Amino acid sequence: MTQKNLLKLMDLTQEDITEILDTADQMKYNLKHHIPHPSLQGQTLAMIFEKSSTRTRTSFEVGMYQLGGHALFLSSKESQLGRGEPIEDTARVLSRYCNGIMIRTYAQSQVEDLAQYATIPVINGLSDFCHPCQVLADLMTIREKMTRLEGLKLCYIGDGNNMANSLIVGGIKCGMKVSVACPDGYLPDASVMEFARQNGQFELTDQPEIAAVDADALFTDVWASMGMEQDAAARRIAFQGYQINDAIMSLAHPGAIVQHCLPAHRGEEITAQVFEAHADEIFEEAENRLHVQKAVMHLLMHKNK
Ligand code: CP
Ligand code: NVA
Repeated sequence: MTQKNLLKLMDLTQEDITEILDTADQMKYNLKHHIPHPSLQGQTLAMIFEKSSTRTRTSFEVGMYQLGGHALFLSSKESQLGRGEPIEDTARVLSRYCNGIMIRTYAQSQVEDLAQYATIPVINGLSDFCHPCQVLADLMTIREKMTRLEGLKLCYIGDGNNMANSLIVGGIKCGMKVSVACPDGYLPDASVMEFARQNGQFELTDQPEIAAVDADALFTDVWASMGMEQDAAARRIAFQGYQINDAIMSLAHPGAIVQHCLPAHRGEEITAQVFEAHADEIFEEAENRLHVQKAVMHLLMHKNK
């Protein structure tokens, strides 16, 4: 790994991503074959959560345990962070007790500031800007199901949110063609789209029917992300038609896979029918969070023992 932290996929080289995915495949193999991998014995990961989580908390906590270490859950509501203690002080305190920090928060700048003041690796467990751990698991799942990434078409339909930003960067860095359908006013980050245009095959449209053509892997995400709940009613109107359904699937490549980071809102961004038809792929994707994050923690934290 060329990096000390995992703050966003933009920071990683293609070789870093391949190293993470290869290590994750090995972690998955070891677990399935009951081969212990206690490379983080005696280490502690602090997990700061300013937003809710099922998968991220569980997979990091279980992952640390399986690597021989321990994970500590710090809800911002119940820690001094929630009472205004600066992130730079939190970073310096946690660096004296722990060996790594995972943070789920709102502003990406909070993640970057934490990393600037911490002397231990920092992992982004989701910000408003990006969700790198999720997209590493997504890339792992596509590669597992389709044996490669390069040259495949990734389609994203919906909100130009944290998932869209990370999928665009991750897909382009791995040589995928990326096509994104978003309604006006809900586009991915401008710097992300600029990166995609400069570095690969990227298409932005407001029509899901265009983005889905010949897609090999189709993604969507909730219409209102965490922190946008007050905007949910307006979003339900803006996102009408931005749904993965049978008509969209009929435009994709035969054998295309469907991915969803979860939680899913059936009847909104995806129909119950498509969700259930692709449930195995979607839950494999959720499982792969565990393997890919163990790989990330091993690669970032093992050398700091
Ligand atoms: N996909 C994901 O990050 O799930 P959680 O919000 O449950 O952690
Ligand atoms: N875009 C969603 C992803 C949840 C894992 C959110 O930020 O709420």
